[in-house]
Amino acid sequence: MSEARKILVTSALPYANGSIHLGHMLEYIQTDMWVRFQKLRGNQCIYVCADDAHGSAIMLRAEKEGISAEQLIANVQAEHTADFADFGVNFDNYHSTHSDENRELSAAIYLKLRDAGHIATRSVTQYYDPEKGMFLADRFIKGTCPKCASEDQYGDNCEKCGATYEPTELKNPRSAISGAVPELRDSKHFFFKLPDFEAMLKSWTRGGALQDAVANKIAEWLDSGLQEWDISRDAPYFGFEIPDEPGKYFYVWLDAPIGYMASFKNLCGKRPELDFDAFWGKDSTAELYHFIGKDIVNFHALFWPAMLEGAGLRKPTAVAVHGYLTVNGQKMSKSRGTFIKARTYLDHLNPEYLRYYYAAKLGRGVDDLDLNLEDFVQKVNSDLVGKVVNIASRCAGFIHKGNAGVLVAENAAPELTDAFIGAAPSIAEAYEARDFARAMREIMGLADRANAWIADKAPWSLNKQDGKQDEVQAICALGINLFRQLVIFLKPVLPKLAADAEAFLNVAPLTWNDHQHLLANHQLKPFSALLSRIEPVKIDAMIEASKEDLAASEAGPTPLESAPRGNGELSKEPLAAEINFDTFAAVDLRIALIEKAEFVEGADKLLRLTLDIGDAKRNVFSGIKSAYPDPSQLEGRLTLYVANLAARKMKFGVSEGMVLAAGPGGDEIYLLSPDSGAKPGQRVK
Ligand code: 2FM
Ligand code: ZN
Repeated sequence: MSEARKILVTSALPYANGSIHLGHMLEYIQTDMWVRFQKLRGNQCIYVCADDAHGSAIMLRAEKEGISAEQLIANVQAEHTADFADFGVNFDNYHSTHSDENRELSAAIYLKLRDAGHIATRSVTQYYDPEKGMFLADRFIKGTCPKCASEDQYGDNCEKCGATYEPTELKNPRSAISGAVPELRDSKHFFFKLPDFEAMLKSWTRGGALQDAVANKIAEWLDSGLQEWDISRDAPYFGFEIPDEPGKYFYVWLDAPIGYMASFKNLCGKRPELDFDAFWGKDSTAELYHFIGKDIVNFHALFWPAMLEGAGLRKPTAVAVHGYLTVNGQKMSKSRGTFIKARTYLDHLNPEYLRYYYAAKLGRGVDDLDLNLEDFVQKVNSDLVGKVVNIASRCAGFIHKGNAGVLVAENAAPELTDAFIGAAPSIAEAYEARDFARAMREIMGLADRANAWIADKAPWSLNKQDGKQDEVQAICALGINLFRQLVIFLKPVLPKLAADAEAFLNVAPLTWNDHQHLLANHQLKPFSALLSRIEPVKIDAMIEASKEDLAASEAGPTPLESAPRGNGELSKEPLAAEINFDTFAAVDLRIALIEKAEFVEGADKLLRLTLDIGDAKRNVFSGIKSAYPDPSQLEGRLTLYVANLAARKMKFGVSEGMVLAAGPGGDEIYLLSPDSGAKPGQRVK
């Protein structure tokens, strides 16, 4: 027996200012399946993660919500960990980059780099917001595109013509935070001298740590020459101050990957048998894997190995890169209801359905993965319910009725059990290579063989014939044994199904090698349905609820509004950029009288409002229920109404325009009202 491997695994650390959505879940589920596979095989495999808690976006968001950054990141961490746990993602440790361990490790690594001469300093000229008193990252600056003259473009690129430029090239620049005209100011910045590591990176990126497509991309970057990397930010900033440099902070991306180490260090404090240096020391024989999305490859395959090398630490064994998630062939969209938060999914569907679907579609490549909702229903129902669970439900009844729930010892088809045992190495190889799709195909191929064999033997017909009872018991006992083998192979993907099956099979938690023997003369527990079919109405309800999340955030931002991964440090601008008068005047704002306010059956967040706008009545669904638990209190009240917003079709009916409210969300949503005397229908100017 070969010695158990020591493996440390991470997923990218989610930002602590947004909810987890199904795009994030692709990564956490993928990693969790791989980790569970390693544990099932008897390896020592440790899975750590943390919230990525630093940066100006988090600082500004906390400010906007009127809470401390510490409070914000604690709230978000509670939400994240609940989402992960409910999806069956089983971290050995979940920590935060805003932690003592991370502060110490970040300082230690920086000092190692500095003392070895890998840090440079020089003055950088940047836009500064004189009202807010802070330097502005490119995405906090808005202005007119220097190439196509489109207004309201970010400081580094134009969304209209695709041009990229320096913020100083932008015409009529404004701070997106305060609206002030920014000034150019100089400040000392700290740079990590990435070019010092060019030779090492050239060899490491070609040494098997990366998928070919990723290594090729990196080769392009390496060939075009490496730049020094700016790792400092000026106060005010939510992060760690740089040692010996008051007022200067580590850029969030400097301490984020160190957060992997920090989470592991924190775990070492709880599990004394773990030795930090055995995993991170230069001579470590442990394996280290980072699972990430393709948008953050530069941080993980260039900066991070260079930092580790410069600090005298080991480098990753591999960086496993995946593509983005699309839903129904398109980018996730809030208005189409396909921007689905983890919690919204969990409110409607079993997490194991999604785990299986992702597994069935995840290969080794970096291609995007499409969650086609029709295919999802079809595949889960046909494979999991129609093939796997079906074997147990076809056989269990005969064993309970005909033999008091005891599996007989006879093997009715040794060639079949041998084929299952013979398939295991190839399935294991596919898991090991992260080719989950191949593993699922091979497992479903076995399930097809088991079903075909049972159908051929037709125990339900034999059972009606005299003298065939022993044969029926032998067939069904084998059916249950084949089901058990399939459950072992699927256990990394479907931990809950496996646990329920173990309870029915009346066995201790199954491990990989258990597939090599069969249960004989063994008492089963009563059988109850292990998995039900997905009903398409549940999918519709989830999509509608996702649209509802949008309606709720339109009525007032929900505290944990989500941001797609990888869009840089800033997910949402605190203040929208300046607009001209014509744009403002295009919004038809009216006084509306709330005639009726009612609950909407089946909607968690919405109220239905019937509005009188002078010469017409309007029906509006508004996501303000959490703040107005007694909707009748709104009846007779005046509010402000956007009369010319395009109507939106929702599950509950058509929403015509929207009412205006302020506040962070939850019970803090404040519907706006005019002074008394205003009349329904009057235009707001
Ligand atoms: O892209 C993101 O969501 C980052 N928060 C990932 C950080 S991964 C690691 F380096 F910390
Ligand atoms: Zn442009």
